[in-house]
Amino acid sequence: MDPLLEAALAVRENAHARFSKFKVGAALEDDAGRIHTGCNVENATYGLTVCAERVAVFKAISEGARKFTRVAVAADTETLTPPCGACRQILWEFCGDIEVVLVNLAGRTESLRLKNLFPRPFDASFID
Ligand code: THU
Repeated sequence: MDPLLEAALAVRENAHARFSKFKVGAALEDDAGRIHTGCNVENATYGLTVCAERVAVFKAISEGARKFTRVAVAADTETLTPPCGACRQILWEFCGDIEVVLVNLAGRTESLRLKNLFPRPFDASFID
């Protein structure tokens, strides 16, 4: 299996999902080929929960990565789980029109472009 998908599936096991029980893993590949991973981290005040995708993006940014090629999202659903709306916004702002690869525990995959998931984005170009 593609190492990016393997990384997303592996980090999913670290999810702190004690409230929803819904574990998600994300793996973000930068332009140097480095993989930055994230899992969802839930909180007793539910609204402070951070999704796997945003954890991966923020970890990558804080490590100095700036250009990205692909993100993989892993969840245990038959219908593959796409990034939520908030994560689409963050992915767009930090990664642009990257490839989004969805994967489930059975190894089913689907590849999409972020532009198709998030067709008319608001971003910094409006306020620069
Ligand atoms: N979640 C993610 O981490 N990524 C997604 O793309 C969808 C939702 C998390 C948030 C919450 O911890 C749980 O899944 C249920 O919504």
